Amino acid sequence: VDSPPKIFTTLDSNPESVDDAEESVRRFAQDSGFAESDQYFIGLAAREILNNAIKHGNRFEAGKRVYLRASRNGESLTIEVTDEGQGFDLEQVPDARLPEYRERRSGRGLTIALAIMDEFYVERSPQGGAHVRMKKRLPGPA
Ligand SMILES: Nc1ncnc2c1ncn2[C@@H]1O[C@H](COP(=O)(O)OP(=O)(O)OP(=O)(O)O)[C@@H](O)[C@H]1O
Ligand SMILES: [Mg+2]
Repeated sequence: VDSPPKIFTTLDSNPESVDDAEESVRRFAQDSGFAESDQYFIGLAAREILNNAIKHGNRFEAGKRVYLRASRNGESLTIEVTDEGQGFDLEQVPDARLPEYRERRSGRGLTIALAIMDEFYVERSPQGGAHVRMKKRLPGPA
């Protein structure tokens, strides 16, 4: 039996490593059968969450790592991002769609990822960092 398809990458706190990770997620989405536009959206969702892990989680600290895992089963593609920060509570983050936040030019990454993906969970890694797990249903038969 073939092991389930997956990718696993470790990123340092360098924002440039996010470009490569975004591209590998886009290709994984392509291999999973997603239409081209969805490939790019899924890559964008991963990019926003990876940037958050490096910035808000690891605070650009050189020794800290971000772990990216993408996998799929018969139903959905799952992306998981783990950082070495303090973790956070999704309920405490303002929804960028609310009128009072519409004029802001930041604070939109999570809202973008939530809009793209079908399921979204923020958990805590055993070490205390954020573990974001998000899923997108695979496209149905054409
Ligand atoms: N991995 C994380 N660790 C700790 N806090 C986080 C993490 N990810 C998100 N947050 C918190 O959630 C807030 C909202 O994140 P979001 O991506 O929506 O906005 P932003 O990163 O501040 O701005 P933008 O993504 O638009 O550049 C962050 O400001 C931060 O307080
Ligand atoms: Mg962000």
